[in-house]
Amino acid sequence: MSKPAHPRATESVPLVEVRGLEKIYPGGTKVAAVRGVDLKVERGEFTALAGPSGSGKSTLLNLIGTLDRPTKGDIFHDGRNVTRLDADALADFRLGALGFVFQAYNLIPVLTALENVEYPLVLRGAGASERRSAAHDALKRVGLEAQAHRRPDLLSGGQQQRVAVARAIVHRPALVLADEPTANLDSKTGAALLDLMEELNREHGVTFLFSSHDPAVLSRARRVVHLQDGELRGEDVRAR
Ligand SMILES: Nc1ncnc2c1ncn2[C@@H]1O[C@H](COP(=O)(O)OP(=O)(O)O)[C@@H](O)[C@H]1O
Ligand SMILES: [Mg+2]
Repeated sequence: MSKPAHPRATESVPLVEVRGLEKIYPGGTKVAAVRGVDLKVERGEFTALAGPSGSGKSTLLNLIGTLDRPTKGDIFHDGRNVTRLDADALADFRLGALGFVFQAYNLIPVLTALENVEYPLVLRGAGASERRSAAHDALKRVGLEAQAHRRPDLLSGGQQQRVAVARAIVHRPALVLADEPTANLDSKTGAALLDLMEELNREHGVTFLFSSHDPAVLSRARRVVHLQDGELRGEDVRAR
């Protein structure tokens, strides 16, 4: 087949590409938490970052998610170099393109499940009825419509993490970054969360990049990228 006429056409550009990425945290020991990382993630992937505690998983996810800035290297989303955008432009970029799920759920305790899910749309300035209906849809997709008016403290850990997933997908981002999303869940609840993530990946085309050090969780990924001391150490790809 011939090459596409426009090399930057969407289908030829990875969803995420990082080149020569390095992160040295300022202060005392100056350990490179991420060093020399080159990585591409294509649309539709269901990929895990694997590595022991301290290997740089959170740092790499935070850099890809533009929550933190690299010391060196470049980060491209959909072909756009976002590395040196200012803080306002990055906030806009994240609100449009990314969803985040964290180990500790990070829900706002005084808001109901529905209001938590609406929150990214509030930040985007969406109108009340649009927000409400998108948040209801997202809660439905994670199987929690019946809990919409409960506050997080009345929900189980698994339910809270489902609310966090609903919040991550409510604005229909291309990419969800999930840092050890099952680490606070028992194995059965964690497996159910992975079922949900897989379904969103398969049926709604959401690309997932998640981290874990748990072999049971990693076995669910279609591609596993191994990190050790801040460096990539090969990867495994599972046949579909
Ligand atoms: N904010 C920080 N300041 C200084 N060092 C940090 C900070 N966050 C992480 N580190 C260090 O960077 C390395 C990678 O950490 P991290 O990305 O959290 O790894 P992982 O998520 O795989 O456990 C570790 O040596 C850790 O101690
Ligand atoms: Mg971590």
